[in-house]
Amino acid sequence: MAKILLETLKGNPGEKVPFWFMRQAGRYLPEYREVRSTCPSFMDFCYSPDKATEVTLQPIRRYGMDGAILFADILVVPDGLGQQVWFETGFGPKLDPVATEETFSKLSMANFHDKVGNVYKTVSNLSSALPENVTLLGFAGAPWTVATYMIAGQGSKDHAAARQLGYGNPDLFGRILNMLVDATAEYLCRQIEAGADAVQIFDSWAAAIPETMFDEWIIKPTKAIVEKVRAKHSETPIIGFPRLAGAALARFVEETGVDAVSLDTGVPLEWAASEVQSKVCVQGNMDPHLVVSGGDLMVSEANRIMESLKGGAHIFNLGHGFVPETPPENVALLSETIKNFRR
Ligand code: CP3
Repeated sequence: MAKILLETLKGNPGEKVPFWFMRQAGRYLPEYREVRSTCPSFMDFCYSPDKATEVTLQPIRRYGMDGAILFADILVVPDGLGQQVWFETGFGPKLDPVATEETFSKLSMANFHDKVGNVYKTVSNLSSALPENVTLLGFAGAPWTVATYMIAGQGSKDHAAARQLGYGNPDLFGRILNMLVDATAEYLCRQIEAGADAVQIFDSWAAAIPETMFDEWIIKPTKAIVEKVRAKHSETPIIGFPRLAGAALARFVEETGVDAVSLDTGVPLEWAASEVQSKVCVQGNMDPHLVVSGGDLMVSEANRIMESLKGGAHIFNLGHGFVPETPPENVALLSETIKNFRR
């Protein structure tokens, strides 16, 4: 059986709209919470191939998505570089901040692949466990988004610490981004070598960056990763996701050379069809909060999204990840709606 998601990423869409959802493995599923409860540390959970494989497969069994996304986290990369990362319940990620020469000098690739090696093991487990029509997606965070966590030592609303370091000490900031480019490119290549069919680069915090800085912080690092991965694996599609980039999305697509792009919830679809989908495959873009209420509005919105993007390559997805309060039965209704649509 053909992998219709992979074919669509390569620019060969068929009658059906392939689908997967960001955070399709996660706390909205009781079977996820059950496995998750056996492992107090979230990072240890990401580094447990059997558990990570199991929770990746759970949504596929329930809903039959065309794509399975590796279960791990974007903060695996700073952890692999030697920055301590942990998750506090009710708070989120915590890291020992890297914002000075001294803290930066402690990071290196020396133990990277050993430290994150179990993620590659999860990918290879998945590549044999998944049904043959399901596309296996690897992923990493984009350097800018990962740097916002590394520099602040936690999540932040306006990414003040990263922006201020970027303006105030562009040399150090540039070296942090370069280290992330090299690590991320190697990390994605290893995932592809372990069996990932395609990879997505999450730039969740690409919002409201001045255009000159958008080039330096978002486009250049992403383009460098795309070039490095493509030099080794020219056939593997690369999906970008500069979330909330607004009109800069069109330039992102042209300049980075990604094969596909994920649209956040706010991207107008008529604009996306003419300015973005005319060049690359698009994914998106249902509001994850609409899946919390579900019902007729969710169904009609899903159909509107698929109608609006049926003129080119489209993979159905959310505009951002599922939230924990999502009722699993609404995901079932959404999945059926997508499966029944014909272009
Ligand atoms: O199903 C999937 O999408 C695959 C797994 C996945 C996770 N995180 C699992 C996860 C993926 C692709 C990510 C990416 C990720 N992680 C991003 C980029 C995408 C986005 O959501 O914008 C970011 C910014 C992170 C960092 C991160 N991880 C934060 C801020 C948090 C805490 C917030 C929260 O929702 O609790 C996480 C934790 C996390 N990563 C969870 C999951 C399922 C929840 C933690 C848990 O189960 O205890």
